[in-house]
Amino acid sequence: MQFDAGHRQRAVLVGLGGVPAVVLSACNPVQSALHPAGADAAGVAQLFWVMAAGAVAIWIVVIGCAIYAVLGRRRPSNEKFADRFILVGGVAFPSVTLAFLLYFGLSLLPAWTETDSPDLRVHVTAEQFWWRIGYERPDGSRIESANEVHLPVGAVVEFVLTSPDVIHSFWIPALGGKMDAVPGRTNVLRLQPTRTGSFRGACTEFCGASHALMAFAVEIHEPEDFATWLEDEAAPAQADGAAFAKAGCSACHTIRGVSELGAVGPDLTHVASRQTLAAGTLENTPSAFRDWLVASDSIKPGSHMPNFAMLPPDEIGALVALLEGLR
Ligand code: CUA
Repeated sequence: MQFDAGHRQRAVLVGLGGVPAVVLSACNPVQSALHPAGADAAGVAQLFWVMAAGAVAIWIVVIGCAIYAVLGRRRPSNEKFADRFILVGGVAFPSVTLAFLLYFGLSLLPAWTETDSPDLRVHVTAEQFWWRIGYERPDGSRIESANEVHLPVGAVVEFVLTSPDVIHSFWIPALGGKMDAVPGRTNVLRLQPTRTGSFRGACTEFCGASHALMAFAVEIHEPEDFATWLEDEAAPAQADGAAFAKAGCSACHTIRGVSELGAVGPDLTHVASRQTLAAGTLENTPSAFRDWLVASDSIKPGSHMPNFAMLPPDEIGALVALLEGLR
């Protein structure tokens, strides 16, 4: 086999860790643990860079020794030197280095007991395949939403996680570590956003056919903007719900102020103001609403949203108009 210059260059790049470098440089900062926007994520990124730097330094030394062993002078080494080399390189150096890295890693762990109350509590229920989000008010009641997480910068936020069906995992890489949402259990995850911006979270535990189609948008606001957003989110919708009731949507979905019986699917009170439809699967446009209504089963296999392709076009049109108006 002949190696041209390109082959050789690629081989060298791979050898020098080019693959991770290319992968990391291509990371999208909205969903990257290495572009932290939260206190925990900053710790994770710090740990990663220190570990990576340590690994690269040790790799260079080991490869240097290997090259020296193969190409170096061919004569027996001084036995005393060899003994010392093994003692230092094989016992002392790994013990000290690993102890330091262990100490450094443990020092970045979050505190075990968090008894003080958080600034905001958000209830997250992982469903198949979307996220039920409830913002807790001071009186304990919740403002229902779905598939988007809005937070005020600087606040200590407590996510209360559960699932009614299978295990999912809730992860906002830019803010911190992930935590599983487990049926029959309530897990608590605390995160503290440190800068405003738009980010993305995802499910990171295989949960079924559309596991890869349950993402969510994350918006970190200034505190006053968050308060305004939450107030808007809490307000009921102003809409004519005739088409909604006629098509049977109200059996599963709630539009506060219009129809509040449905509790199976996402709350649709302000669905048109969300960034995406079907939990990060479609853009939020009238044509995507139409596609979702008539082809939900092929867009998101295994989801509980029925396909409404049997409805006449004018009823689909009326539903799209209603949903588009829910800002
Ligand atoms: Cu939910 Cu994977």
